[in-house]
Amino acid sequence: MKTPASSTHSKILILDFGSQYTQVIARRIRECQVYSEIVRFDMPAAEIAAAKPHGLILSGGPASVYDKGAPQMDPEIFLLGIPVLGICYGLMLMAHDLGGKVVFTGRREYGAGMLHLKNGSELFDGLGNQLDVWNSHGDEVTALPKGFRVVGTTEGCNFAAVEDRQRKLYGLQFHPEVAHTPRGKEILQNFIYHICHCAMDWTMGSFIEEACARVRKQVGDQKVVLGLSGGVDSSVTAALLHKAIGDQLTCIFVNNGLLRAREEEIVQRVFGENFHVRLKYVDASERFLSLLKGVTDPETKRKRIGNEFIKVFQQATEELLEEDRRNGDRKHGGYKFLAQGTLYPDVIESVSIGGNPAQVIKSHHNVGGLPEKMHFELVEPVRQLFKDEVRQAGLHLGLPKEIVYRQPFPGPGLAVRTLGEVTPKRLSILREADMIVQSEMEAAGWYYKVWQSFAILLPVQSVGVMGDQRTYENTVALRIVESQDGMTADWVRIPYELLARISNRICNEVKGVNRVVLDISSKPPSTIEWE
Ligand code: XMP
Repeated sequence: MKTPASSTHSKILILDFGSQYTQVIARRIRECQVYSEIVRFDMPAAEIAAAKPHGLILSGGPASVYDKGAPQMDPEIFLLGIPVLGICYGLMLMAHDLGGKVVFTGRREYGAGMLHLKNGSELFDGLGNQLDVWNSHGDEVTALPKGFRVVGTTEGCNFAAVEDRQRKLYGLQFHPEVAHTPRGKEILQNFIYHICHCAMDWTMGSFIEEACARVRKQVGDQKVVLGLSGGVDSSVTAALLHKAIGDQLTCIFVNNGLLRAREEEIVQRVFGENFHVRLKYVDASERFLSLLKGVTDPETKRKRIGNEFIKVFQQATEELLEEDRRNGDRKHGGYKFLAQGTLYPDVIESVSIGGNPAQVIKSHHNVGGLPEKMHFELVEPVRQLFKDEVRQAGLHLGLPKEIVYRQPFPGPGLAVRTLGEVTPKRLSILREADMIVQSEMEAAGWYYKVWQSFAILLPVQSVGVMGDQRTYENTVALRIVESQDGMTADWVRIPYELLARISNRICNEVKGVNRVVLDISSKPPSTIEWE
């Protein structure tokens, strides 16, 4: 994994023992404007020392310290003089490694508790005498290592918060990072600001400056291509690279004929006209649509679209090179670099302990396969950022809200929302219906509150009546979901009036549709897209 920003930054390293909350810890720290990075639990002490963190956090994890193969850390780490905060499993391990006693209680304790504070720990400065906390643990400390003392207890646990102030070692049996510990962030702030002496120097402005400097160093005077989809990640990457290297960047925007209404217009306006990014617009709709003729199987659709995208992109890059040569630019040796909007959740090495993969977030990559096929070197300037940070970066770089806060849209586009065969006529019906969903969601203030809201054209016709005429037309389904990361989702309880408006408008305005239905399935067991 690449390491951070710059060594002058304050930095907290989080040793990941497989907790489902590890990423939450990292985000909480960054919300406090301190850079944090997740590393494997077995990172050697020498490497940690070399990374010069201001503090370490040991995450929780599903294992018991007595499990065979329980993840162990390098005990030398406790001798480095770097402040350490152990959370849950992290505390158990610290107590166990330093000579205390930990027992496996056999029962897992979950849920809310009240922490009673004593002995005035710096960790709880300004937090009063008691705190609501959230527990989730199986092991319990029963005797402390030498030098430690208790600074907080709960009903079920005499060692809920402990410290060795001398050695700057701290442990919490509960989870300060979760929302169910309402003042948990203040505990983390006490740790990072007062105990680790971190400065609040992780700001978007400084990130962007440093990211630009890194990109310039990586690519020198070479040229870079980027597959711009119009989604948040590729858009922010484009804006950042444009700031860093100007015309050395060319964005390729492929119209695969499966885009939403006016999508190509928006992208060309924002990037071409406003940002003056060198943009190559490729209208390949006919190529894609002819490949999809007669295809109804979802996987075949996806494969054909994916493969064709690579071909179109490759061809576009060759054309760019030709154009450059024609324009007398003989200096550069081709497009060696491919920029991608890879995010931090995609690059954290996953730790799988006891069948509990710490990291489950994986995004589908629209440009998957490109680097291998074309021997590109990757430029990934936002790979340190979480999604919400990418959005902040986008705003900072001057991207409009309609790009920065837009809903995710799948690479295979409307093809996976046109169930059955994808034809120009069916696409146009779906596009019109989708535009109504989007504009009504926006007008009612719901668009930015949900994860996704869209229409699906079903391969189902049904009987209706219009005036005195009997109709036999298409059905549109509405999918409106809330989600944190796309891995799980639930349907949103949208006001009936809004649903009624969307349905009326679709039936009245979209020729070929006489019925609208609402999808009320959660994920799992359903997926968000229908194909
Ligand atoms: P599913 O349908 O798997 O979707 O529940 C989860 C999230 O991923 C998006 N999605 C895709 N994004 N290429 C993408 O870039 C794809 O092939 C793709 N398939 C699904 C989907 O819109 C949802 O946000």
